[in-house]
Amino acid sequence: PLTLDADVHSANGAITEGTVSFQLRQNAQLIGSSIDAPVQANGHALMTVEGLAKSPTELHPLQQSFHEAHGLQCGYCTPAMILAAKALLDENPHPNEAEVREALSGVLCRCTGYVKPVEAILRLEQGGE
Ligand code: FES
Repeated sequence: PLTLDADVHSANGAITEGTVSFQLRQNAQLIGSSIDAPVQANGHALMTVEGLAKSPTELHPLQQSFHEAHGLQCGYCTPAMILAAKALLDENPHPNEAEVREALSGVLCRCTGYVKPVEAILRLEQGGE
């Protein structure tokens, strides 16, 4: 069983048969999911994709932009891409395409590429359509 002694605001990703996948932010730093993540989370607050929205019926602007730009991919990479985008925009509210691609570079996807997620982030920065 997974025991996590952390200040958990919400759960993200998948907990499937003893594995856990989530993103952890320590001191506003995005930390990639890994087998070590539960240990790294000990005593730290977690920001997850579910925790972004103000309420269960209202999407965060990043979630809405991913939806509208068709940037939603699978359940493994999409939460990480959205959280990576959140971390980027918190630090740099007006990123260019190269900065967006760099921010997403730690999220590995060999299925579809990064075109639509990058568009979703740049679209949000530009205020939508
Ligand atoms: Fe999610 Fe490729 S679509 S990992």
